[in-house]
Amino acid sequence: MLLAKFKDEVEEILSRYPVKRSALLPLLNLAQREEGFVSEPAMRDIAKVLELTPPQVFETVTFYTMFNLKPIGKFHLQVCKSLMCALVRSDDVVTWISKKLNITPGHTTPDNNFTLSVVECLGSCGTGPMMQVNDDYYEQLTEEKVARVLEDLARDGVCSLKSGPYMYPIPLSQS
Ligand code: FES
Repeated sequence: MLLAKFKDEVEEILSRYPVKRSALLPLLNLAQREEGFVSEPAMRDIAKVLELTPPQVFETVTFYTMFNLKPIGKFHLQVCKSLMCALVRSDDVVTWISKKLNITPGHTTPDNNFTLSVVECLGSCGTGPMMQVNDDYYEQLTEEKVARVLEDLARDGVCSLKSGPYMYPIPLSQS
């Protein structure tokens, strides 16, 4: 049982809410943090703790795109494809990544390093095209920036570019 391993954390999360079911999203986050995705046993576990049915947990997991239903790579590349990013050629970002990693959206590289997804608006509409990599945002993307992010992550496990909108005014050579 996944949650049994995190008894104290689960209790702390439950203590934040007057109604148990309100803790559903934080517990799903915990499960995904630990396993990289939300497995069926984890969903059953969470349902039991929150006194929900497994389908109630499942329908929440499938509603939010931030939850993964299967294992993903070490770095999850999520490219926004919604209107504002589409207008500034987010489709090019997908093409650059696909070309560089030889994968299409929904797939993971054979070394399990990268998974590519296309997602709806990530709330950074003024600085597109953009992508989220795990917890970091990379914005105003160019082919050069995308290459640098992917190469840094593959080589060092961290990116030398600053994430977030403040990366934009900084010339690439100084970042
Ligand atoms: S449209 Fe891409 S972040 Fe909102």
